[in-house]
Amino acid sequence: MEIKIFETSEQLDSYAAELFTQLLNEKPNAVLGLATGSTPIGIYDKIVENFNHNKVSFSGATTYNLDEYVGLTPENDQSYAYYMNRHLFSRIDIPSSQTHLPNGMAENPEEECTRYDALLNAHPADIQLLGLGHNGHIGFNEPDGELSAGTHVVKLKEETREANARFFASMDEVPKEAYTMGVGSILKANTILLVVRGSDKARIVKEALTGPITTQVPASLLQTHPRVIVLLDREAGRMLE
Ligand code: F6R
Repeated sequence: MEIKIFETSEQLDSYAAELFTQLLNEKPNAVLGLATGSTPIGIYDKIVENFNHNKVSFSGATTYNLDEYVGLTPENDQSYAYYMNRHLFSRIDIPSSQTHLPNGMAENPEEECTRYDALLNAHPADIQLLGLGHNGHIGFNEPDGELSAGTHVVKLKEETREANARFFASMDEVPKEAYTMGVGSILKANTILLVVRGSDKARIVKEALTGPITTQVPASLLQTHPRVIVLLDREAGRMLE
């Protein structure tokens, strides 16, 4: 595991964007596993900057997102499909047919999980971008006695709904369920890029990276992966020093 701690968030964003840029220059048809939430926004901005400076093209890339809320349409500005279009897809040259998320409006959730898993199995990610939840979740794989390998519907923990309520008009509007890629699919990525910012996550960073490997801290399973790059701002990394 390679851990890098940055003085500023901007340095972190540039470094992460450079990793994507280099990968796509070496492998134009790379498969990218992507995340939403507040953590990747600055990285996507830097990627767009690189694209605008003709340093990178996404015309041959394929993307698979980690998760999507159940019951939200892509037009709903809180859906992850909307987020991805807003922060990345509409700003680069990737054809929409090459971008994938679980379909929050699927009629049959079980079939939707099977459909998404078939895609993931056929196209393992060259790089999987991850944020980290305060309780150690990755994707929406919440702490539990056991974790699922494949795509599944999760009941979101109240603490996760509360953490995400800041994006919604009220707590009632925060969906109770979400589709998420399973931990097995995440761990199949060639490289995992875990990005964490902020002092409120310093404790869980330390626990996930240096504590016991346990399904009660899903991110601790990353310790078993041969190629994990962890990018932290100074605050998130403060308990590692
Ligand atoms: C997002 C995702 C989540 C977030 C995590 C951190 O697609 O899967 O695991 O990465 O909840 O969220 P932020 O970045 O908003 O602190």
